[in-house]
Amino acid sequence: MEKKLGLRARFNFYETLEASLAYQEHSKFLTSLAGTWDFLFCSSIQATPAAFLEGKYDQLEWQTIEVPGNFEFQGYGTPIYANIDYPFALVPPRVPFENPTGLYHLSFEYHKKLDGQQILRFDGVESAFEVWLNGRFLGESQGSRLMTEFAISELLKEGKNELALRVVKWSKGSYMEDQDMWWLAGVTRDITIIEESEIQSIKVTPKLEQEQWTVEIKLKRAHQKRLEFGVFNEGEVVCDFRSVSEDATFAALKIQQPKLWNYETPNLYTLVARIDGTVYLPIRFGLRRIEKINQILCLNSEPILFNGVNRHEFHCQKGRALTKEYMKEELIQIKRAHINAIRTAHYPNHPYFYDLCDELGFMVIDECDIETHGFPEQASLCQDPLWEEAFCSRGLRMVSRDYHHPSILLWSLGNESHFGINFVKMAEKIRAYDSTRLIHYEGDRECQVVDVYSTMYSSIDELKARASKKISQMPHILCEYGHAMGNGPGSLKEYQEVFEQYDSVQGGFIWEWKDHGILVEDGTQTSYKIGGDFGEYVHDGDFVIDGLVLPDNRPSPALFEYTKIIQPVEFFYHGNQLVLRNKYKYKQLTGVKLVWEFQNKEQTVVGEISSISPIDPGTLSEVLSIPAPAEVNGVISFRLIPLEPVGVFQPEDIFASEQFEYEASYQKPGRTETSLEKTIQYTQSDSFIQVTMEETTVTINLHTGNISSFVKQGTELLNAEMNLSLHRQQISNDAEIQKIWNESYLRELFSYCRKFAISKNQTTVFLLIDQYIAPPQAPWGMYVKNKLWLLDGKLTRDCEIWFDGQAPSEVPRIGWELPFQNKVAQVSWYGRGPGESYPDSHYSSHIGQYQLDAKDWAFPYVVPQETGNRMAVEQAKLLFEDTELELVCARPLNMNLVPMTANQNMNYRFKQPEDPLQRVLRIDGGMRGLGSHSCGPKPLDKYLLKSEYHSMKFTLA
Ligand code: GAL
Ligand code: MG
Repeated sequence: MEKKLGLRARFNFYETLEASLAYQEHSKFLTSLAGTWDFLFCSSIQATPAAFLEGKYDQLEWQTIEVPGNFEFQGYGTPIYANIDYPFALVPPRVPFENPTGLYHLSFEYHKKLDGQQILRFDGVESAFEVWLNGRFLGESQGSRLMTEFAISELLKEGKNELALRVVKWSKGSYMEDQDMWWLAGVTRDITIIEESEIQSIKVTPKLEQEQWTVEIKLKRAHQKRLEFGVFNEGEVVCDFRSVSEDATFAALKIQQPKLWNYETPNLYTLVARIDGTVYLPIRFGLRRIEKINQILCLNSEPILFNGVNRHEFHCQKGRALTKEYMKEELIQIKRAHINAIRTAHYPNHPYFYDLCDELGFMVIDECDIETHGFPEQASLCQDPLWEEAFCSRGLRMVSRDYHHPSILLWSLGNESHFGINFVKMAEKIRAYDSTRLIHYEGDRECQVVDVYSTMYSSIDELKARASKKISQMPHILCEYGHAMGNGPGSLKEYQEVFEQYDSVQGGFIWEWKDHGILVEDGTQTSYKIGGDFGEYVHDGDFVIDGLVLPDNRPSPALFEYTKIIQPVEFFYHGNQLVLRNKYKYKQLTGVKLVWEFQNKEQTVVGEISSISPIDPGTLSEVLSIPAPAEVNGVISFRLIPLEPVGVFQPEDIFASEQFEYEASYQKPGRTETSLEKTIQYTQSDSFIQVTMEETTVTINLHTGNISSFVKQGTELLNAEMNLSLHRQQISNDAEIQKIWNESYLRELFSYCRKFAISKNQTTVFLLIDQYIAPPQAPWGMYVKNKLWLLDGKLTRDCEIWFDGQAPSEVPRIGWELPFQNKVAQVSWYGRGPGESYPDSHYSSHIGQYQLDAKDWAFPYVVPQETGNRMAVEQAKLLFEDTELELVCARPLNMNLVPMTANQNMNYRFKQPEDPLQRVLRIDGGMRGLGSHSCGPKPLDKYLLKSEYHSMKFTLA
């Protein structure tokens, strides 16, 4: 008789409703066999004493072992650390004769409590085992991190019982478990006897159809006992118990006023099956949808951004046998670091891990216990039909065991095992079992079976290049990036910028959470052991030390860096005004105070705003006026601190922080909202926003995201929109590259407003405008993030630009243009002058205060071409006939005043200037050098203007 149970979810029975809702594994119907067992260590399977096989356990001289636990951490055998290479010969399915083997024995008393079956459940044994109950062979199993259950009712006796196991380190299964980690053996997870009643298998599926959430229940039943179902949420009744018919194997319950699950607000429901009014079976579930909408991964319709981490199960003194307390502490630490996702690299984790993820809120990629990294591609097991069953059954055992956890959004087919037919079959079977989740596997490079394109360690350029292809394509995630080995990783900030700008790049998972050094005490000394320290022949040394935290979970600097970069709050600061953005997608930001601190070499000034009004997900705070702390330059830091414990955050935590330069010239010390006489006027429609401050009125076109009108003292300055531009009139030395620029159509750019948010108070308007700006036809463009501040009659633009797609590798210039309505009479400025200057030709133009009539601004080259740039401009004033315009640059910029006709920007074609003296003001963050390429070399590399990241900040008044 086959005693091993088939696929089913992992569940427990309880004696009260309260106990079932508490969802802990304490129940009269659960008997843990954890503890000290008899143990015998043999060097091979063949060395097993005959008495053991004959069930004559009292004839053996036992030692002891703790269950759960690994052999190697209790003095039996040694760990081996190897990354890719197998430490044994590749002759599957054979394994070495020398094979660390553990014989386990336990005598225990048992009294049956229910009339159903008794099940013996193993949550994880490395790497394979056989089991005997009362001397009778029950079965065998492999799959180190998967559940195996045996029906034991027939063999289990009232009173004394004897359980025996034989566990081997090397098995056929080891070929499937070549993960980059320590090779260990033993009973690493719980062994439990479960009493069952009536229900033999249950599958609970929440579904959303026509805006109604329903939870569907499929059952396998034993005795047709009285069965009722109820649904609870935080102890409250959502659906009261109601019976189903005696033979029903299906039920559906409607959930009214649904509270959705997400990783920020992890609402959990519990379905409880009540059997005969006395036995309870709870299944926790969440209402949430994971799907692709227009090729973007979405959770409850919101695009996902994984700020994730890869996590192995590891304890520096216990190996892979973790206690629940330890898991909980570790996950709280991860949550406090603002990490929102975990990939269970590279095997299904302990069942309790998923309960914690459901409760604390993590998005989980649940990965199957499959890695065959050491096989050459041609000999890969995933192409071998003899291994098909192993692939499929490992997949289905994971999916069926973990089916109910809302935190799991994707199933991962495994890691680094090449790609072949066995994965295709496995994916098919998983989909048939679970149609509610998506599939991940990094090895499926052509995306034949997966729902998401996943890569490891892609460079920022590779990410951008793919994202910029501008065709409908799979969403891209990095299942591993930011290799945290030793001191590092670097450039997390640049990765995050790509994740946040490019819709199709949906984040990644740092490799990895923890260093896996093994703590060894040597007399009075303790040290962490790495690969090779146990005398291994095949090993990979310190490659096992590549985490964000040390083996004892002490955070490394990299964890602080990552936490800062992914913090859920963005700070915008200018002129003593502060705006916060809540980057949570589903959750209000509330219950925090703001502490600010000004510092320079001489002084520190601190203050706080004791509470911040709640900020809705994805939106901006009100504008917070910070009292000007000083009349000198310095730095100002902001910290958000929880007012009381919220979730995992404590009042001593810094929830989010940011530092800015404090420029005294920007500040008006002592200014408060009430002391300001002139306030702003503000109008908004679907297509524009208009703000009047003192004598200036600015209008923003919400379709293009551009400033479309700038009125000063009643005079409209602009003739067309102020737009970003890359074009300069061709110079003789540009002839060669100009062909590329012409083919790239970079003279005419179109602007689209992608996202927009606003915050204002009586004196200040802050606008956050994300634009996409691109030329006609070409497969490239620019993501532009603008922070516009309107205060004190001034407009400040602080912007960042990321090139996207196959842009020409360099561009002539980059900056904003103001095409003027009226003639500019005169310009005065502080910067390089008086004549023009370019990056590779400026030594004769000293920095100073200058003034010129507009007509004298440019140099009259015989062949008309680009002329007139002034570098290092910090301030300028333009005089018109009836008004003036002031420019202040936060960091020195290029400035130029070019005739509208010379500029030839096609954007102005609808408004041809009548007056040849009509000008365009250019404020440029970058300018290419001149070189002598008309008959000589290009400009030196450092004088080229690369199509990369650029930023600039300036104020107009
Ligand atoms: C990846 C692999 C990980 C780990 C990492 C390097 O290739 O999936 O398991 O080996 O590289 O530390
Ligand atoms: Mg590997």
